[in-house]
Amino acid sequence: MSASYELHGDVAVITLNNPPVNGLGYDTRKGITDGLERAENDPAVKAVVITGAGKAFSGGADIREFGSPKATQEPNLLSVIKMAENTSKPVVAAIHSVCMGGGLELALGCHYRVAAPGTQVALPEVKIGLVPGAGGTQRLPRVIGVENALNMIVSGDPVKSEVLAGIPGQKLFDRIIEGDLLAGALAFAREVAGQRPLPRVRDLKAEHEQGAGYFQFARNTVKAMARNFPAPAKCVDCVEAATTRRFDDGLAFEREQFINLMLTPECAALRHAFFAERAASKIPDVPEDTPVRAINKVAVIGAGTMGGGISMNFLNAGIPVVILEMKQEALDRGVGVMRKNYEAQVKKGKLKQDKFEQRMALLSTTLDYSAIGDADLVIEAVFEDISVKEQVFKQLDAVMKPGAILATNTSTLDVNKIAAFTKRPQDVIGMHFFSPANVMKLLEVIRGEKTGKDVLATVMQLAKKIKKTAVVSGVCDGFIGNRMIEQYSRQAGFLLEEGCTPEQVDKAIERFGFAMGPFRMGDLAGNDVGWYIRKRRYVEKPEMRYSKTADLLCEMGRFGQKTGAGWYDYKPGKRDAIPSPVVNEMIEKHRADMGIQPRKISDDEIVGRLVYALVNEGAKILEEGIALRASDIDMVYLTGYGFPLFRGGPMCYADSQGLFNVVQAMKRFAKNPNDDAQFWQPAPLLARLAAEGKSFN
Ligand code: NAI
Repeated sequence: MSASYELHGDVAVITLNNPPVNGLGYDTRKGITDGLERAENDPAVKAVVITGAGKAFSGGADIREFGSPKATQEPNLLSVIKMAENTSKPVVAAIHSVCMGGGLELALGCHYRVAAPGTQVALPEVKIGLVPGAGGTQRLPRVIGVENALNMIVSGDPVKSEVLAGIPGQKLFDRIIEGDLLAGALAFAREVAGQRPLPRVRDLKAEHEQGAGYFQFARNTVKAMARNFPAPAKCVDCVEAATTRRFDDGLAFEREQFINLMLTPECAALRHAFFAERAASKIPDVPEDTPVRAINKVAVIGAGTMGGGISMNFLNAGIPVVILEMKQEALDRGVGVMRKNYEAQVKKGKLKQDKFEQRMALLSTTLDYSAIGDADLVIEAVFEDISVKEQVFKQLDAVMKPGAILATNTSTLDVNKIAAFTKRPQDVIGMHFFSPANVMKLLEVIRGEKTGKDVLATVMQLAKKIKKTAVVSGVCDGFIGNRMIEQYSRQAGFLLEEGCTPEQVDKAIERFGFAMGPFRMGDLAGNDVGWYIRKRRYVEKPEMRYSKTADLLCEMGRFGQKTGAGWYDYKPGKRDAIPSPVVNEMIEKHRADMGIQPRKISDDEIVGRLVYALVNEGAKILEEGIALRASDIDMVYLTGYGFPLFRGGPMCYADSQGLFNVVQAMKRFAKNPNDDAQFWQPAPLLARLAAEGKSFN
């Protein structure tokens, strides 16, 4: 039963019961309308209470029905709400815990609303590229005022019931009920049972004294803030409609916006990302009820760039951390950086002083392996050198308690090899954080051949606790993200050789929506990192061609921002990238040495070559089973590499272009004598899907 019906004396109680959050799927909707009908027809019933069982009043639409005909099958949500509103007896929504999206729209259609304190109330549709579609934009401004409603609808963020209850003149909650919600709701229902006429939100006016000017200002503001997304501006249009149109007209207008937005690529991309994030936490052969190990103490080896950031994640989550280093100076430096980082947050008002002190109190340091043996998880973040890793893991194997998880933050080294340095490979796993590790959302979780299922399940669960988006990757050089970015960087280098400037390449891909182009990114991360990796590649894979421009740059000592010069020039202490005549001269000379006649390259070609380089490698990664699903690759790029969210990730973008067209573009690129024809051989999976008219996702 997805909604139950019970009589409490003369009050009928309809209880939504569709775990986990009482999503308004077909069965639940039908349960509500059946209940309303029964109550309407039973002369003994004087009032109706609608409430939710378990963890929510209702979280809104049932996401399991998204895109299926069931989502709109009658009674659809609009019909359910209409029926509640038109019931001749008072209908009281008894709200607790979570009341979001369609759940709030349903509550708004009830004659009265009572709520428990601490209820999270929101219309989050904008976050998946939509406007609320069941009257939320028309009813909410009528009960909490235009400005308050607009803020909630445009941001999609939850607001606590007691905050809303505190808005002067608000009509969202008729009563906040401390203690037993159902008992309070029943008492309230009996109080209002005889009152007529019944209040109806639709009869209220949504007014805003400043009118059109106010809405134009709001529209301009949201357009500037959400440049690539149409939904926020449409939310403004809908709320404006609530103030200028009759209720039914406004409702029709909202519906029209909802349906139009549903068809936009931006909405498709956001929905894709929404589901991709949920899918990423599921591992087919590791069931959700796999037992996990308790993680109450973490050790981190190395207090460098990554070790410090990694530690902060756990301190922020209230988990004690001990950092181990080789020298006291390294510890002092590392802890100093963490402290400064927290202090900056305190200064900006993002962190309270007492919280900062609490976090630092959870941190301890040591030079001695015997002090870390009792940690439940140890994460190694020492130099990227296999012999150093070997030394560290042998030590860890000797001192860590049985059952401790041994993780490595390596970016490129073989996790199976690292596991083999220990006598407990089942306890070894990769936890690949991204820099800055306390900020970046992505955590690539590297599953070694022998990694235990419980170890994997534990790390995936822990990732949620430290607010990371975890994506599982198999073992290969560079894992999902860096293996793909290498192909993208190679193309960026070829583009320079053929006629582009670094600035032109960066601008083109930034206009496509990337947070930062490859050359600005190189300057930020340090060009020496790639140089170091390429030197290894030249030995291991001599057949792989790279543009020499990046090596020439490093030979000039231009490692990026940290040396004050890279692909761009930098003024002392500043991060603004200034095009560099010296670099352009170097590139021109290199072209001349190679005998390449430069040509004008369009932005379309730049974007196509960079993005399809990612896609082709992504297809190989998928086919090899390194990634479990195409959407996992998209998640890696959305959360770790600044790929534009409104395009849904590289694989989703390729799907949107049509894989047939992607392959055609690759064939065109392969004809370019200065590019690498081999590079543009479509991956077998891509070729097959394109030929069959299928897509990755
Ligand atoms: P780093 O050079 O900033 O820090 C390494 C730290 O490890 C140094 O403080 C060093 O004193 C310490 N260390 C070295 N050998 C040690 C040993 N035997 N015992 C204890 N401490 C030791 O390096 P970074 O950038 O933090 O990188 C660390 C690891 O993280 C590497 O495996 C790297 O590939 C990986 N990584 C780096 C990223 C980055 O953007 N920097 C991103 C993701 C992973």
